[in-house]
Amino acid sequence: MTIIDAPSGNSSEGAQARAERVTITKLKAMKGRGEKIAMITAYDYYTARLVDGAGIDAILVGDSLGQVMLGYDSTVPVTMDDMIHHTKAVSRGVRRALVIGDMPFMSYSLSPDEALRNAARFMQEAGARAVKLEGAAVAPTVERMVAAGIPVMGHLGLTPQSINVFGRHKIQGKTRESAARILRDAILLEEAGIFALVLETVPTPLAALISNRLSIPTIGIGAGAGCDGQIQVVHDVLGWDPNYTPKHAHKYANLGPILDNAFKEYISDVQAGRFPAQENSFPMDETLLEGLET
Ligand code: KIV
Repeated sequence: MTIIDAPSGNSSEGAQARAERVTITKLKAMKGRGEKIAMITAYDYYTARLVDGAGIDAILVGDSLGQVMLGYDSTVPVTMDDMIHHTKAVSRGVRRALVIGDMPFMSYSLSPDEALRNAARFMQEAGARAVKLEGAAVAPTVERMVAAGIPVMGHLGLTPQSINVFGRHKIQGKTRESAARILRDAILLEEAGIFALVLETVPTPLAALISNRLSIPTIGIGAGAGCDGQIQVVHDVLGWDPNYTPKHAHKYANLGPILDNAFKEYISDVQAGRFPAQENSFPMDETLLEGLET
């Protein structure tokens, strides 16, 4: 049986939401029309609601949550259960954007069967409509996932799960040899069936060349304006950390100092007895309390 339009609450609202949803086909069509794709990371319900409402095309529940949500110093310790927990929260906040779950370290490298099982968890348990994998060694696994109905986004250049191989975060593809390898890997992944490719921290001319060479969209982070779209870590663009902005990011807000002031004001109001004020409190007929204090 094919369910064409299963009702969800108000069925015309549900149908409209589905009609507006960003799909991988829409993203590919955007590249065809030369329209830039705007992507961002999110890890929680509230942020997801805000970026979705603002009109973002796709949301990556990135394993960067290891650093910005969980306080690790890399993405390596992040588990499948961490990712599923946060992807569920994001999916609950999204009506339109394409939600992509980032497969964490070792969740897709041990065996293709395990990779498939883990990718299915993102879609069945967490509401993601695609997954992302790092590197080109996974091309055969990508083929199996796509054949099984799981849209896959690739990720080349600086792939943070390999930080212990790279040694440190540094620009990738600066030599002719490494540039040629990244281009080869990009073509291999496109042939394996990815619907889009993240290019992280690679020189602008190389990213532009790859973007022209591929028919799927490239999404850059530190890869210049020649990519078909851009992705940023939400904490970087909101300026949560007053002391650090990566070179590839632009602060669209300065939340760190704003939040710091708000917390300090709250603490001092509580300490001085200014909060809660009358308008934050609930009155009652005090005669009802007579005699209760003894
Ligand atoms: O985990 C992440 O946030 C990412 C993006 C930086 C592409 O992989």
